[in-house]
Amino acid sequence: MKRVCVIPGDGIGPEVVAAARRVLDAVAPPVDYTEADAGLACRKRTGHYLPQATLDAALGADAVLFGAITSPLAHEDPDYKSVILRLRQALDLYANLRPAKDWGQPCLVPGLDLLLVRENSEGMYNCPEEEDAEGVTTFRRITKRGSSRVTSFALDLAVREKRREVTVVHKANVLRLSDGLFRRVFYEEAAKRASIKTSEMLVDNCALQLVRDPKRFDVIVTMNLYGDVLSDECAGLVGGLGFAPSGSYGPKHALFEPVHGSAPDIAGKGLANPTATILSAAMMLRHLGLARDAARVEDAVRAALAEGRTRDAGGTLSTDAFADLVAARVA
Ligand code: NAD
Ligand code: IPM
Ligand code: MN
Repeated sequence: MKRVCVIPGDGIGPEVVAAARRVLDAVAPPVDYTEADAGLACRKRTGHYLPQATLDAALGADAVLFGAITSPLAHEDPDYKSVILRLRQALDLYANLRPAKDWGQPCLVPGLDLLLVRENSEGMYNCPEEEDAEGVTTFRRITKRGSSRVTSFALDLAVREKRREVTVVHKANVLRLSDGLFRRVFYEEAAKRASIKTSEMLVDNCALQLVRDPKRFDVIVTMNLYGDVLSDECAGLVGGLGFAPSGSYGPKHALFEPVHGSAPDIAGKGLANPTATILSAAMMLRHLGLARDAARVEDAVRAALAEGRTRDAGGTLSTDAFADLVAARVA
């Protein structure tokens, strides 16, 4: 039995996680689930955003399935440190894989099948900000090790999945040392894997080309903040955040979550599209060595999308009704 720690979180988090659980229950993989509490509502109940028991449960599991968490506004809690960022750090999840794929949903780019790999452990996300009388300084650290492990992850993924090309995305024309290091390490790693074709693009041009000619990309590897922004853009190409799953991988741990947040504007109304979380659960099954069960989930998503959709995708189904449709199509 594999052990999965489930953290539903806030807003639509519990709704989309419950939907994914319905589909997982229909597949019935050899998995034991433990639910753990975190987030804004948890803080109100327990005094902690991320209780030690939840951290221990995540560290003790074979994988984490995460919903979403609402961040308090700066004036509500000036010292807040994002729960998902703390989890990514504590579990050393350095590579964040965010696929943008046509599953049969209404897509701006029919047939798209793009993999974005985002560095997930350094850059501005893991550095202090300092305030003085004049303004604020934000630090950003890029390391050889951080650049090497994430570019290796992307290149190995591309080789394993028989992909055409890996594009490194950076801004080394301005950030000549830091982005220059990331770029240089990418090419060093690529030289060790001669079979894979490589290319590079500046991040601003990449944002443009993703809109103009997205199919020119196959696998993108990029730095933390660029990957955050570009992955929402990629989600837009395939029907929105409701269709954007992700997996974060480290040497010992892995966490699976939709790219979207807690969507307070639609929470509690049955309007959330659970596809991103269901597809994240499929990525989790594959990571756990349950590739056949992962494919059963993905096939059921494809079959369900041919029959019905949630409102964000032009349909009429509620979160639960769509989850039931997917569960019913599990073969
Ligand atoms: P968001 O992703 O929650 O929502 C952006 C827009 O997309 C909203 O209009 C929302 O209704 C829509 N949307 C998102 N997911 C959807 C789904 N599954 N189905 C249908 N529509 C969906 O981003 P936001 O509004 O900028 O942030 C809301 C809160 O979530 C903030 O507190 C933010 O910090 C947090 N957040 C958390 C995570 C996380 O926990 N991993 C990720 C992103 C944002
Ligand atoms: C994401 C989110 C997070 C990020 C936030 C909530 C810290 O936007 O997972 O894309 O910036 O990484
Ligand atoms: Mn984001």
